[in-house]
Amino acid sequence: MADETENAIDALLQETRWFPPSDEFRAKANVSNDAVYETARNDREGYWAGWAEQLDWQTKWDKVLEWEPPYAKWFVGGKLNASHNCLDRHLATKPGKLAIVWEGEPGDVRSYTYGELHAEVSRFANALKKLGVTLGDRVAIYMPLVPEAIVAMLACARIGAAHSVVFGGFSSEALRDRIQDAGAKVLITATSGYRRGNLVPLKKLADAAVVECPTIEHVVVVMRRAAADEADDTVTVNARDRWYHELISRESADCEPVWVDSEQMLYTLYTSGTTGKPKGIIHTTGGYLTGCYATTKWVFDLKDDDVYWCTADIGWVTGHSYVVYGPLANGATVFIYEGAPDWPKQDRFWQLVEKHKVTIFYTAPTAIRAFMKWGESLPKSHDLSSLRLLGSVGEPINPEAWMWYHRNIGGERCPIVDTWWQTETGAIMITPLPGIVATKPGSATKPFPGIEAKILNQQGQPVEVGGGYLAITEPWPSMLRGIWGDPERYEKQYWAKWPGIYFTGDGARVDADGYFWLLGRVDDVMNVAGHRIGTMEVESALVDHPAIAEAAVVGIKHEIKGTAIAAFVIVKSSAIDAAKSNLAAFEQELKQHVSDKIGAIARPEKILLTVDLPKTRSGKIMRRLLRDIAEGRALGDVTTLADPTVVASLKERYEEES
Ligand code: WT7
Repeated sequence: MADETENAIDALLQETRWFPPSDEFRAKANVSNDAVYETARNDREGYWAGWAEQLDWQTKWDKVLEWEPPYAKWFVGGKLNASHNCLDRHLATKPGKLAIVWEGEPGDVRSYTYGELHAEVSRFANALKKLGVTLGDRVAIYMPLVPEAIVAMLACARIGAAHSVVFGGFSSEALRDRIQDAGAKVLITATSGYRRGNLVPLKKLADAAVVECPTIEHVVVVMRRAAADEADDTVTVNARDRWYHELISRESADCEPVWVDSEQMLYTLYTSGTTGKPKGIIHTTGGYLTGCYATTKWVFDLKDDDVYWCTADIGWVTGHSYVVYGPLANGATVFIYEGAPDWPKQDRFWQLVEKHKVTIFYTAPTAIRAFMKWGESLPKSHDLSSLRLLGSVGEPINPEAWMWYHRNIGGERCPIVDTWWQTETGAIMITPLPGIVATKPGSATKPFPGIEAKILNQQGQPVEVGGGYLAITEPWPSMLRGIWGDPERYEKQYWAKWPGIYFTGDGARVDADGYFWLLGRVDDVMNVAGHRIGTMEVESALVDHPAIAEAAVVGIKHEIKGTAIAAFVIVKSSAIDAAKSNLAAFEQELKQHVSDKIGAIARPEKILLTVDLPKTRSGKIMRRLLRDIAEGRALGDVTTLADPTVVASLKERYEEES
């Protein structure tokens, strides 16, 4: 982790401003008594059981927790259904309340009441059953952010099938790998989705993936088209394909939910790690839903009349927990938007907040930094007075961005919850409770009640004040239950550093007030615009190019994305002349290659040609040196790594320094 970041934080701690909750906010907050921390600590299991009791269970559990490190079972013996908890149980009290309000990028608006959403999910669940999907099957979902994507997730949950959502920005190959790994039986996709005015041809990409996926028996296709666009008519329809609208038109709106065991897998979601192969994180039903329900209620202070907008795509865990399961389990009105924040203009988000009277807004620091760059006149030109709470997630939020968000979006009246968590943790772990905790710009503050987070040193001893590794020392309900098909990797990745203690992969500091300051990953995982990408994944994509012999990838500082990707490549001697004859075109080709292999989020910002890669004696790539070169610090007068002696001398210099 960078010393600079630590120094910056030290400087900040000297003069940090506190933002305590206003009396007005506290008076109405869902939780305003800080005794909750103590209560939860004294009887953690009882506290979590209290949350679980607020959900509907068909059969109550016999035991709250069975913990055989590193395997946990929560609410053992209980039976429930996640779709029932997100839909049916609200029907009696609020059948006419809006569950989803959606706006497509072209401006088309659709909404579903809880009654309507329940009916649509039930119809689609019935259709999936007829396609042969049953308890324990995996169903892949590759869709734009349209209401049907949420319907698809809940329909799977309703019949006990596990969904595996693959972000619609991922490539055909990435989709193929994830389908193959999970052994999915059905793929649900759409003809296309809108992004910056263009149609992303999802069905075409899905078709290319499915060619190599023998487990897929059917592809269900949602027709996504604004009236004026004819492009969707050109999709190929294969024998295994079924139109979503035809399927549901034939089905009844009654579908008895399948009551599943609390530990039944609800979904798998792939995320990047330190190897080239993404891992399918497994979440189960009872504990996960409990964690999402509890954190949504307290962190976002969710009320019955809120219009809640989390800008994440359902392809990420934030979309799973805080677009779908958390808010719907709470019976909230969820707003979703399909497209880009700068389409047709850079004020689209503020226009949406104004038009739909959004009250809670949850986004990522990378987006906030883009808004800053676009200028404060854009939010100023819209009425944002409906907003009452703001959230941030995905990466550390720099204090400047925090202050900008506070002033220009929050009108200095909205609390900001900076929420730290991971795909693996399932739900928010470190966060302010907005009615209780005074915030400090840049700090995620304190563990959620019932979560035991500590800063540990290498030996696993707690650091009272200072820096180290962020660890979770006690099991929690929404924790991952494993990695699909790879228990060994699960044990090694998360539990081998200190037995029985969960290793997050993040570095952090804790200050004298017990506040946590996140410093970023300590492993070979990059956080690009709030999305996790492994250096190895990008390296594998690069060496897959016929001209590349070897590649090394590092994350470098980026004004908007936080981190961008820099790739050092050794070009094969057979290809070097061609590459050099048109360097710019060659670099473009490599960038595009990575985009095609993984997706646009993995596209390198910089390509640097080299004849050698600096490695330590034990063969580890010297990433700090590479970062210094890519950020323009190491080379001095020399501007090229094409001379082999340059790398050797740099390497020597760096070895002396460290
Ligand atoms: C990694 C998890 C959890 C939803 C989105 C990302 C970083 C996440 C914060 C935050 C500092 C954060 C961490 C973490 N991260 N939230 N509020 N402050 N860092 O999920 O892809 O599983 O990535 O994102 O490095 O380990 P993910």
